[in-house]
Amino acid sequence: MNEARTLLAINGSHRRGEGFTARALDAFLRGAAAAGARHEVLYPARLRIAPCSACGKCLFETPGACRHDDAMGEVIARLEAADLLVLASPVHFDGLPSALQKMVERLRVLLGARFEYRDGRTHHLRRAPGARRRRAVVLCTAGNPERESFVTIRRALRRILGAMEWEPAGEFLFPASHLLAAEPDLLAGQLHALERAGEAFAATGSIGPDLLAAANREYVDDPAAVLRQMTETILRIRDERRRAREA
Ligand SMILES: Cc1cc2nc3c(=O)[nH]c(=O)nc-3n(C[C@H](O)[C@H](O)[C@H](O)COP(=O)(O)O)c2cc1C
Repeated sequence: MNEARTLLAINGSHRRGEGFTARALDAFLRGAAAAGARHEVLYPARLRIAPCSACGKCLFETPGACRHDDAMGEVIARLEAADLLVLASPVHFDGLPSALQKMVERLRVLLGARFEYRDGRTHHLRRAPGARRRRAVVLCTAGNPERESFVTIRRALRRILGAMEWEPAGEFLFPASHLLAAEPDLLAGQLHALERAGEAFAATGSIGPDLLAAANREYVDDPAAVLRQMTETILRIRDERRRAREA
């Protein structure tokens, strides 16, 4: 993997470039850019994507072609052209945000008629297998301070990558995500490691275990205190906004 690679990032946040997920993703992409990767960030929430209507047309009538004509054609073209992928998302009710879920369901157009039963699980195979070895990382943020918040979304994202034949190259999980904005110094080490991980990923397609561990190092030592801080922050912002409306 020596030539300049194309890196596609998908950020499932509905807050577009201003959210907590974007803060972490930006660090990773800074590293990737330093290593010379061309990159682009797609926000499903910004795109006109119709929900999958489960009509079966892409399976039974026009294999590989969806009845909807919208931004999904371009999303799939970008996905297929990319060498490296960052699948970034906040946790919404333990799962994927609706805009990302909608985009993912539309990827079913890439799956064909064949299934495999392997390692105790069903694998729905792509219609046309991916020709190249393509690597992906997952980056998730969650408001709650406990890492248990990521159980469902990690499983869903891993399955999506598997179905699309993207090889997993690492995961980055940021609980108590408001700390990314409120206490950047507390996370400085993790964000620095994340930036170096982006650089390694773009340069080699893989990320060493030490960098993965450093970027995922625990920073919440008192979950109850973090939750109290979250409540105080919400009440303060609510007050500020009320005063601004009344001014
Ligand atoms: C509709 C909604 C549902 C959420 N559900 C959860 C949840 O189940 N668990 C959790 O830890 N955080 C939850 N959160 C908080 C977000 O995961 C967290 O604030 C995240 O970092 C937001 O990322 P963003 O700013 O990039 O959108 C939820 C937020 C929203 C808006």
